[in-house]
Amino acid sequence: MPPARMIYALPLLLWLGAAAAPAPDARFTPDGRFRPPTDYREWVFLSSGLDMAYTDAPAAAGHKVFDNVFVDPAAWTAFKRTGHWPDGTVFILENRLGATQGSINRRGHFQSAEVLGVEAHVRDDARFKGGWGFFALSGETPAEQIPYGAACYACHEAHGAVDTSFTQFYPVARGIAEKAGTLKDR
Ligand code: HEC
Repeated sequence: MPPARMIYALPLLLWLGAAAAPAPDARFTPDGRFRPPTDYREWVFLSSGLDMAYTDAPAAAGHKVFDNVFVDPAAWTAFKRTGHWPDGTVFILENRLGATQGSINRRGHFQSAEVLGVEAHVRDDARFKGGWGFFALSGETPAEQIPYGAACYACHEAHGAVDTSFTQFYPVARGIAEKAGTLKDR
């Protein structure tokens, strides 16, 4: 029979063990796929780009595309303090088709209900080489990481002004990074 004090110590040891174990990361499935956040529309809105293009190829005639960029609120709070996007940052880029005809609109473009695509840029220093991973999201299905050889990584690494993100295009965030001295000239 084990001594009584060992029996009493057992619950304490179990509790300590549970406290020391890393909490499972709810953003990822156990096999490393990223779970699309369902509430990103309630996050911090950084900016909308309209018909942005990174090559000289002519734009597709006849339609406009908006991209809306959001970041999770905890990352935003840290960014305001440091000018860096912290470990754990999740950016969402949502592409929407532009529309011209609707209600009282006679000129200009507004965003239609049609979402063309949703992408994520996620910082997780323990998980990703270089700290950041990219994902193409589709509904609520957990997404596989886009492989490191893809153009996403090279372009963001070479041209993103803060921590591989395109903060130079997000007006309020840009000001914060400028003040903090973290904005690269790109
Ligand atoms: C040739 C350069 C280039 C490539 C390649 C590229 N991006 Fe981007 N990305 C940009 C620019 C520029 C922005 C800023 C958009 C804006 O201002 O609205 C951006 C913004 C983003 C954002 C918003 C957060 C951030 O990092 O600033 C996400 C998410 C994103 N891209 C995902 C992707 C994914 C996924 C791929 C690959 C499939 C990709 N990008 C490939 C240039 C690029």
